Amino acid sequence: MNNITIIGAGHVGLITGVCLSDIGHHVTCCDLDQEKVDQLHTGISPFYEPGLDELLKKNVNNHRLFFTNSPEKALSDADIIYIAVGTPKQLNGDIDLTSIYKAARMIGEYATKHDVIVVTKSTVPVGTNTVIKQIIQKTARKIRNMTIVSNPEFLREGSAIRDVFYADRIIVGSDCPESAAIIEEINKPFNVPIFSTDLHSAEMIKYSSNAFLAMKISFINELAHLCEKVGADIEEVAVGMGLDSRIGGQFLKAGIGYGGSCFPKDTHAMLKMSEEAGEKLDILKAVMNVNRRQHDVLVEKAKNYFGSLKGKRAAVLGLSFKPNTDDIRESPSILIINELLKNGVSITAYDPKAMENTKKMIGEKIQYAASIEETLTDTDMVFIHTDWDEIKTFPLSQYEKLMNKPVIFDGRNCYSLNRVSAYKIDYFSIGRQPHFHALNRT
Ligand code: UDX
Repeated sequence: MNNITIIGAGHVGLITGVCLSDIGHHVTCCDLDQEKVDQLHTGISPFYEPGLDELLKKNVNNHRLFFTNSPEKALSDADIIYIAVGTPKQLNGDIDLTSIYKAARMIGEYATKHDVIVVTKSTVPVGTNTVIKQIIQKTARKIRNMTIVSNPEFLREGSAIRDVFYADRIIVGSDCPESAAIIEEINKPFNVPIFSTDLHSAEMIKYSSNAFLAMKISFINELAHLCEKVGADIEEVAVGMGLDSRIGGQFLKAGIGYGGSCFPKDTHAMLKMSEEAGEKLDILKAVMNVNRRQHDVLVEKAKNYFGSLKGKRAAVLGLSFKPNTDDIRESPSILIINELLKNGVSITAYDPKAMENTKKMIGEKIQYAASIEETLTDTDMVFIHTDWDEIKTFPLSQYEKLMNKPVIFDGRNCYSLNRVSAYKIDYFSIGRQPHFHALNRT
């Protein structure tokens, strides 16, 4: 049996560790953050992810999953070492590989086995794995044979556990067929198709997949503008397009633009990579520009409706960049809130999970409410930013009841126009005709 060590117990590292231990492997996760490690020992995840706490507790109690903040303890005796540290965006937007290289040096220094396979889960620009290998070889004390495998992660926040067990594919990229075969064997119990390829192609697959998905989103968002102008309904258009299996129905949901820790960072990194390689990737530039513009759409609609927004009171429903996560990194909701604040709007916000993180980021610039009802009370307009179940099933009759004169700017098309038409609500959404209730027209 292999001893697996994972460096980094963030979103990717922890989910990978929990899932690998759940299929029977002996896994140690190493994170330098002592507080996080202490919390993980008790079986509680430091971030919200549906189903994670249950699997975490189960495998900690089964003695298959261990946590430590000591690289020495984690790496001695490890045969397979996963690198799953963060690769954040720097202030200038470029990707920061400091933690990746630090992990590589730690492996060289502390790994004691002669034969070691290093598996990179973190998203890194093409060619980075070759540099990781060189660093490990340079710093290696006991390692004699070391091979590197690129095994990029495709899990989505909010459905990460499901995405591991029911993935469409696992990518294994290596220039060493024997190491690739060992990693394939480790992943076999997931019962997911495995595609083996060379190292650079695997690195490229990760970026290309995320860029393609971002492109689908920007494409549908751009079509949404046209739909509004020509009297079509983007929801209908997306369904009709998606029925063509060559197109596929997923990632065709028009909205307020993509956010999160991956698409914005990865599209930027891919563009940089292409420029350095002397290529232009014009499509990717357009994808990013459309996304930036999409963040402004709701505020523009509100300005057109009210004229000036100064002194108005707004309710914001949803802060996280998507439902089922407390993550607000690059969340369109936060960008829109900042824009509303600039326009002199006072804001009360609600999110089922992301309020603590928002308080840490923007503090008391806005007010926080404990329920949707409290958020809406006595406001002039509501902005729907995240389509949590609780938000998209909230009864329209309550908007009528609680708001001064109900005006909804729905960035996630949560309500059908048919339903809205039964209420005294002015309703604006994405890529669909606005609904004005005659009594409310200003
Ligand atoms: C993404 C990729 O899906 C995943 O494979 C990769 O490993 C990491 O990046 P994630 O960022 O967790 O995952 O969420 P995802 O569900 O892809 O959504 C990203 C953003 O796109 C969100 O802001 C979401 O609201 C937006 N989105 C997604 C749309 O606006 N429309 C869609 O149709 C789909």
